Amino acid sequence: MGRPPAIILRQVSKEYRRDQIRIPVLSRLDLTVAEGEFLALMGPSGSGKTTLLNLIAGLDRPTSGEIIVHDLDLTRLSDSQISRWRSDHVGFIFQTYNLIPVLRADENVELPLLLTKLSRRERRQRARTALRIVGLEGREDHYPRQLSGGQEQRVAIARAIVTDPYLLVADEPTGDLDRQSAEEILNLMEQLNREFEKTIVMVTHDPNAAKRATRILHLDKGQLVDDVTRAEPSPPKVAESAASGDPPYVADLDTARRQEARL
Ligand SMILES: Nc1ncnc2c1ncn2[C@@H]1O[C@H](COP(=O)(O)OP(=O)(O)OP(=O)(O)O)[C@@H](O)[C@H]1O
Ligand SMILES: [Mg+2]
Repeated sequence: MGRPPAIILRQVSKEYRRDQIRIPVLSRLDLTVAEGEFLALMGPSGSGKTTLLNLIAGLDRPTSGEIIVHDLDLTRLSDSQISRWRSDHVGFIFQTYNLIPVLRADENVELPLLLTKLSRRERRQRARTALRIVGLEGREDHYPRQLSGGQEQRVAIARAIVTDPYLLVADEPTGDLDRQSAEEILNLMEQLNREFEKTIVMVTHDPNAAKRATRILHLDKGQLVDDVTRAEPSPPKVAESAASGDPPYVADLDTARRQEARL
């Protein structure tokens, strides 16, 4: 396929220290994730799923080993370089949405763009586009308390994609939702993976959620194991939508990015 992997972990270990006591969590993990994969990460509570997600997303650093995302070795970046990289290329989706209650839906979505050079108008336009993608057209001026849990999570997903990141990380995104809303959120994540070609790493306890992924990994006792009970993962669907032209959302975001580059 010629494309470099989205994520490579080489001998990644992580231990925490508290009061001189070492708490080993991850032990010499190796992992390669192809671009366009939708990975579900499962495992018992306390096995280190959030820890691993945070390492991949550049929120934390490993004790040893290398983490390479889109050809960039995160372990060699300074703190300020890594936070810049994160805001440009990673979208975060949490179990508890983390919306700001005093901001409207579109203002919440716009937040990550405040770090860019986009004008106010462009930011507002992009936020509206992202809200349209997640099916919340017409709700732009709603405050979080005026939305259902599923809708709040949609706003959070719009906020995660508004910078057009190549990587989405989600930590139990359906953990607080009823079955119906969870299904809708998973449909949306599938769409972001297939149509918008996002590489996704999703932590979940729910086997039904994990089934939506193209690959399932289990983390247990510091080790990663591929799920061997399922059929071959379907290949990343990057080639398909290229033929039909970029979706309008991508075109919108590309335009905004070009405008940004000219500034
Ligand atoms: N900042 C920290 N300092 C010390 N120990 C930590 C820290 N963060 C996590 N741990 C420990 O690391 C281990 C893994 O935690 P982590 O949050 O990654 O687990 P998890 O698999 O996400 O669990 P859950 O399914 O309950 O969310 C736990 O034993 C936890 O207590
Ligand atoms: Mg966790």
